[in-house]
Amino acid sequence: MKESTYVKKTTGFLNTLDFVKKPFVFDELDSTNLTAKDFAKAGAEEGTVIIARTQRHGRGRFDRSWESPDGGVYLSVILRPSASYEKTSLLPFVAALAVTKTINTYGVHATIKWPNDVRVNGRKIAGILLESEGEGSTVSYVVVGIGINLAVDLKELSAELQGRSTSLLNEVHHPVDYHEFLKTFLMTFEHYYTIFQEQRYWEIIDEWKANSDTLGKNVRVNTMTGILQGTAVDIDQSGFLLLRTASGETKKILSGDCLYLDELDHT
Ligand code: BTN
Repeated sequence: MKESTYVKKTTGFLNTLDFVKKPFVFDELDSTNLTAKDFAKAGAEEGTVIIARTQRHGRGRFDRSWESPDGGVYLSVILRPSASYEKTSLLPFVAALAVTKTINTYGVHATIKWPNDVRVNGRKIAGILLESEGEGSTVSYVVVGIGINLAVDLKELSAELQGRSTSLLNEVHHPVDYHEFLKTFLMTFEHYYTIFQEQRYWEIIDEWKANSDTLGKNVRVNTMTGILQGTAVDIDQSGFLLLRTASGETKKILSGDCLYLDELDHT
């Protein structure tokens, strides 16, 4: 898709931020991640942010779709981190912390489910999809896509999602300002990304742990190679989950779909 076909709007409210050099806001896109990847391949600089008010084909982890009705925040940030490829696995933590802390400013307690689902009262409010390109240990670009159910009317979501999703509007019961939320989020994202760029990785991991509800839980993780079950005991320096299985073995999991067994019992 050519840039000229996009509906581009001015974004004066974001001009006060240092990090966001080039925000592009569209009424509708197929997927902000796809557009961001096109921009990144064409040389867009770090800090370019692609924002859409709705998405036709929002994409989730594991090739799932991300339902993107009006009222949600759908955005992708282009990053060109100086860190090695291995450390990019911490970037979803940066994004999850930024979402969590922004939600906290509304007086709402949010938690992170490993690796990067943000939840309120056990229901998903935001998801993160990281896509990257590089060679060897060198990173060319990383696109961090974030979808947040800000003022989404939950009835707009499919029946399957309604029971396990929430929105900020649903939690605070008063209107939430889209631009205000976006600004706080991007400022907070910049804060944590600076910590990342300064290689203070343990600060990110410690904060992630302080805001996560995963450690100590009995979990089942669907990975690319199979299903693992056990107790989530820790997160390592790259954000991998350490799982203690019934046989006493500790498994290191890079990525997967994590389910809490106590929640499975109730369904
Ligand atoms: C997940 O939890 O499965 C991740 C969902 C990520 C959704 C966001 S919305 C903005 C960006 N563009 C996409 O197509 N996906 C991400």
